[in-house]
Amino acid sequence: MPYEKVGQELDRVIGYIKTRNYTDKEKDLITKETIQNIETYINPGWLKYRKSMSTNHAVVESRDYGNYIEGLYGEKFVDCFGGFGIFTCGHHNSEIIDVVKSQLDFQALHSQELLDPFRGYLAKAVADITPGDLQKCFFTNGGAEAVEMALKLARIATGASYFVSMVNGFHGKSMGAISVTGKASYRIPYLPMVQQVDHVGFGRSEEIDKAIRERYAVGGKVAAVILEPIQGEAGVIVPPAGYLREVREICDKNRVLLIFDEIQTGMGRTGTFWRCQAEDVTPDIMTFGKAFGGGVMPITGIICRPSLWVKELVDNPFLLGSPTFGGNPLACSAAIATIKYMIDHDVPGQCREKGAKLKAELLSLKERFPDLIQDVRGVGLMLAVEFFNSEIGYETAKGMFSRGVMTAGTLLNAKCIRFEPASVLTDEIIGIITSRMGEALEDARKKYAAGQLGDEGH
Ligand SMILES: Cc1ncc(COP(=O)(O)O)c(C=O)c1O
Repeated sequence: MPYEKVGQELDRVIGYIKTRNYTDKEKDLITKETIQNIETYINPGWLKYRKSMSTNHAVVESRDYGNYIEGLYGEKFVDCFGGFGIFTCGHHNSEIIDVVKSQLDFQALHSQELLDPFRGYLAKAVADITPGDLQKCFFTNGGAEAVEMALKLARIATGASYFVSMVNGFHGKSMGAISVTGKASYRIPYLPMVQQVDHVGFGRSEEIDKAIRERYAVGGKVAAVILEPIQGEAGVIVPPAGYLREVREICDKNRVLLIFDEIQTGMGRTGTFWRCQAEDVTPDIMTFGKAFGGGVMPITGIICRPSLWVKELVDNPFLLGSPTFGGNPLACSAAIATIKYMIDHDVPGQCREKGAKLKAELLSLKERFPDLIQDVRGVGLMLAVEFFNSEIGYETAKGMFSRGVMTAGTLLNAKCIRFEPASVLTDEIIGIITSRMGEALEDARKKYAAGQLGDEGH
């Protein structure tokens, strides 16, 4: 039979998925094969830039729960990385998993022809928890895909073609999303991309006004302004108070749509369900993702004001997009369970309260290590520690990793390390994070004093 050997090989792998009581020999084999497979069939670069390769042995992930991720040999990590904000409701949340398992017992994916009930219930729930008159939803699979839909919707609803987006903003890496992203290193290899984008400085509303008016003066019309209410990838940059409101007023005055990308800031992470609620501002289109699937299923999407659902989109509902898997029943059941969990457990409130405690601890580390830490900033459980240079950051992140605390700093870029742990954080875990970070900083300081780390910025 063709591919018989492949089938036998996959029998063994399915065995690894189904039972987790591996022998030591199996653990060694899985570790060895994982490295080989990534190197040969994915990308050797993946290995180079992972902290999991920086300790004396490679750490292969095996299971997760609460604030923890475990490696194959039982190595235990407090997860401050949080998958860049996926795990707001905790790792492997049993309340969410129960609901998804129930759905899986009946139907995994949708027929694409019969009416899918949970897509509808989810859309209603999203309209109920989002501000103002945001009402019409479109579900997608990834963050960049949601951004694509937001941009296309703005164009079709306004008939205008230009966008204003932010320098250092991040909206994903598909062609449209990268076009409004504001980071040269991600963009240069793909230029030219969508041409009708003017990037302006984040946090300075007058620049948006100027860009819209100047574009108009030369014959172009701006469809929408797109921004993150707090820039995540840029290093947790919180704009001045009142900024979102000013941007709203500028958009209204110029008859331009406002898109808030809440993919990272949404779902409670910054202490309110959505960051825009902190300033009581409603966008015309909002994107959501990451934590939306409860850390269990990938699901993202957009919600917009009903007036944007123009006749063309009603007449041809597949014009905006028709992603095969977008809004599938498993993903919708995960998102429904996530919203319910967030309401029952006041996840935004927990993020607010525990974020304040963690931030206070990080600020006291800054006092202890003023030679290494330049800044501590952020809101709720979307926090960042900025170091004087990337080498200090990486040494600290590596030191924390070897002490069982995972953060986002990588060999590629660790000047600023983001902390986005799950809301199930306890005082004890906050203590573990900060005491181990203190030890890692002590080690980094010794190396720094011995001239073994860079001194950029001093
Ligand atoms: C604000 C924001 N928008 C969009 C994206 C892209 O999401 P994805 O990686 O799921 O495509 C991200 C991912 O980090 C993000 O933080």
